[in-house]
Amino acid sequence: MRIVLLGAPGSGKGTQAKKLAAKYRIPHISTGDLLRAALAAGTPLGVQAKAAMDAGQLVSDDIVLGIIRERLRANDAKKGFILDGFPRNIAQSQSLDGMLNNLNQPLDCAVLMDVDFDVLMQRLTGRRTCENCGATYNIYTNPPRLDDQCDRCGAALRHRADDNEVTIGNRLRVYDSQTKPLIDLYRNQGRLEIVNGVGDEDAVFKRMLTVLEPIAKGMRKPKLPPLPPAKPAKAKLPGKSAVPMKSKPLPVKPLKPAAKAPPKPPAKKAAGKPAPKKPASKPAHPKKKSRKPAKPAARRKAAKRK
Ligand code: AP5
Ligand code: MG
Repeated sequence: MRIVLLGAPGSGKGTQAKKLAAKYRIPHISTGDLLRAALAAGTPLGVQAKAAMDAGQLVSDDIVLGIIRERLRANDAKKGFILDGFPRNIAQSQSLDGMLNNLNQPLDCAVLMDVDFDVLMQRLTGRRTCENCGATYNIYTNPPRLDDQCDRCGAALRHRADDNEVTIGNRLRVYDSQTKPLIDLYRNQGRLEIVNGVGDEDAVFKRMLTVLEPIAKGMRKPKLPPLPPAKPAKAKLPGKSAVPMKSKPLPVKPLKPAAKAPPKPPAKKAAGKPAPKKPASKPAHPKKKSRKPAKPAARRKAAKRK
């Protein structure tokens, strides 16, 4: 089974992915976890990712795609995987399709964990994670028996650095602007499943299984994306920006004003004339005005000389 878990920060992707990974014996691949591990290990990649993660922005596509490409090539991913937190924008989803196409392992579906925004803040501010075994708790809804100590292994529980209100606000905005468009993308491709993510964890898990069991039993074949890109689209982003490639809107925007503008004579001639309709906002250029009287004067001088 090859699936993507889509959903806002705090929607329960990690919680459900762990359960699904245990049930189906396939790896849970979380780009957030991989980036945090790189950061904790002090690798150059982790150091590069830190600023964006601390700010609640997306890490650059180049970094994330490099991590995913390597992870999907690992042996354990050959029998399937659960992607959690990837893809997170259109460019990443296109790259993923390209990679899976090359491996001849198409995605079965994307499952959206549907949770209202007002629930997310409480889930995120209350989250505590075991630094040893990765178990997740919530001090409001699923507290550990002992404060800050894991029930399973007794190790210390951590509050994630990006689980503060300011960064959570940024993460939610980034989700809204960059990740949410994937919902329509997968829906239009006929590859979207939606699961209500509200309710206790086991109830949500049952709903997940209702959607995923037919896939696990081979009763549902993966639907191929309509136009898989020939090559994985390597995002060419300016600098460290986390903004995804906006391949469609970008070329369209500059065309609008150009299309409305009336046909104009060549720029040099137009610049010499007084502006036809916008004199108030753009007065005639003083230098250009002063050229006109200068010409006859120059001619007169030239005539005297003769
Ligand atoms: P990432 O680690 O992926 O964070 P996220 O998407 O913000 O999602 P979370 O992990 O916060 O939430 P979750 O949905 O996993 O919820 P969970 O199950 O833990 O990414 C972190 C950062 O890394 C990003 O901001 C970005 O900078 C970078 N990054 C990662 N991937 C990237 C990519 N592809 N491209 C670029 N940058 C990337 O649950 C949350 C809490 O709710 C827990 O306390 C849990 O116990 C509780 N809970 C869960 N289910 C329930 C339930 N049913 N009822 C009540 N409580 C519940
Ligand atoms: Mg998570």
